Formats: sequence, structure tokens, C-alpha cells
Amino acid sequence: MIGSTLSRRSLLLGAAPAMGLVTLPAQARGPSLDFVVIGDWGRDGQSRQREVAQRMGGSAAAIGSRFVISVGDNFYEDGVGSVADPQWQSSFERIYTDPALMTPWHVILGNHDYQGDVAAQIAYSTTSQRWSLPAPYYTRTETLADGTSVAFFFLDTSRYILEYLRRPKVRVRGQDKQAQIDWLERALATSTAAWKIVVGHHQLYTVTGQEHDYPEMIGPFKPLLDRYGVHAYINGHEHNLEHIAVDGVHYITCGAGSATSPVVAPPPGQFASDHHGFMTMRLEAEGLGFSFIDDAGVTLYQAAIPRRA
Ligand SMILES: [Fe+2]
Repeated sequence: MIGSTLSRRSLLLGAAPAMGLVTLPAQARGPSLDFVVIGDWGRDGQSRQREVAQRMGGSAAAIGSRFVISVGDNFYEDGVGSVADPQWQSSFERIYTDPALMTPWHVILGNHDYQGDVAAQIAYSTTSQRWSLPAPYYTRTETLADGTSVAFFFLDTSRYILEYLRRPKVRVRGQDKQAQIDWLERALATSTAAWKIVVGHHQLYTVTGQEHDYPEMIGPFKPLLDRYGVHAYINGHEHNLEHIAVDGVHYITCGAGSATSPVVAPPPGQFASDHHGFMTMRLEAEGLGFSFIDDAGVTLYQAAIPRRA
């Protein structure tokens, strides 16, 4: 690990906007697409999951959230066993109860979900009013009131992580890696959306670097993110809230929906926090803004990303 582990309190010193990014004005400006993001959460309400959920509900109401994105590891430790698994109630339905969270939940799978029945997570989409996981990887396009289009590319990343080849409990052996990469390249190449956002459970880059970056994710995916003008890659897996930019692509870690892990001191121009929390995101025609908010309702960090030419 690089640097030293910091306490929760001292990390707030690193919470200033960075990278030449501007702090968002407090007021909403014009038509926008607002939503919330959470990752790594299902623990029967434990490890601050319930408190994060309550704050997320309040924020979702305040911003007029249109949907939720879950970046995976939806149920610990071993996913769900079926569509009737009690965890659907104890970790999802009875936790995220705010009316503002009764919107579509666009979900992806994490490695812990692959320790259970991922087909059940897909099947739950047909019985739930809000859970939406139509396939292991898929795209969605949203349109702002002014016609600006936003494309989301939802990935299934566990199959790329080499350590799972030695951990058969994560049931990804034999999955086709190249097919998804080819699919993503075609989808990015043919997209005419003004905004392109890729969502995957596993990170490419972290503030911690080295030990926590995944070369096996960087290898296949970074060239596509760079080549096709992706604005942001949003991931979980790291149980933190982080922001780092590499070659113009913004890598945002939002994996603090319940248990969290220590983080290293963020270098200048980067942000990291080990607070429990979630993210709100706002998309407008010319700018993308996001905020990390913790389980006490404190806004830890805000940043804005301009639209790429
Ligand atoms: Fe994970």
C-alpha cells in the first residue's frame, strides 16, 4: 500500500475538490437527469447499511432521483439462493424503503453475487417493480428534457479477475471474456449519445494504486474507454468512496454501501474516504456533477466533469 492509513476524521482534510474540477453550485440549473448510486450493500441492515439507506432516501427525494444504480455485491456473503431468498426482504425491500427509492434500480453483479445464484437476481427483475437486471451485461439510454442523450453500459466484470480462478466459490470459470469486450466495443462505437458512462463492479484504478488496481481490467477496458470518449467509469468492490482521473477518463469508486475499508492518504488531485455512503449524480447537457454523501448526511466531496468534445 502507498502512504499511511488515515482515520475517518483526518480524511476529511482531503475532501476538497481537485483536478481543476469545480464545485457544483448548490442550486439546480435547468433540466437535468438526477440519480443515486450505491455499491456493496446487502448485509441485513448491518454495518451501517440501514443508516446509509435512510440518508440515500433523503437525498434521492431532495434531488428528484429518477433511478438507482447498484454497482454490485448486492448480497453478502454469498449472493442469494433463489428469488424467494429471505435476503430480498432483509437486505433490500425492508432497507431501501423511502418512497424516493421506489424507482427503477439498475443493477449489476459483483463477485459476492457470483457466490450465489445470479440467475435468481436476473429473475427477480420479473417479480419486482423496481429491481432491473435484464442480463449480466446490458445498455440503457436515458434522455434529458432538452434531448441530450446519456448512454449507460452495464458490465459483468467478475470473469476478468484472475484471483477468482483460484477461488471456485466465485462461479465465473468458463465464462466468455472476449464476447463482452467485443459487445462493449460495438456498443460504444455505434453510440451517438452525448454522455457515455460505463458501470462495472471491479475497478480499473484506485487512489491506493498498485495492489488495488486491476491490470486484468485495465488491459481490455482502458483502450475502449479512451478510444470512444467515455466520460466516467463507475465501480464498487473497493469499500470506499474515491475519485481519480486517468487520461481524461474519470474513475469513480462507490462501494461504501455497508462495510468500509481503510484508505490511504489521497495524493493531490484525487479523493478517497472510508466513510459509509453513496453518491448522487446529476447529468446536464454540458456537465456531469457528482457528490459523495455519508451515513450522517454530510457531503464529503463534490466534483464536476465537463462534456468531452
Ligand atoms: Fe466485490
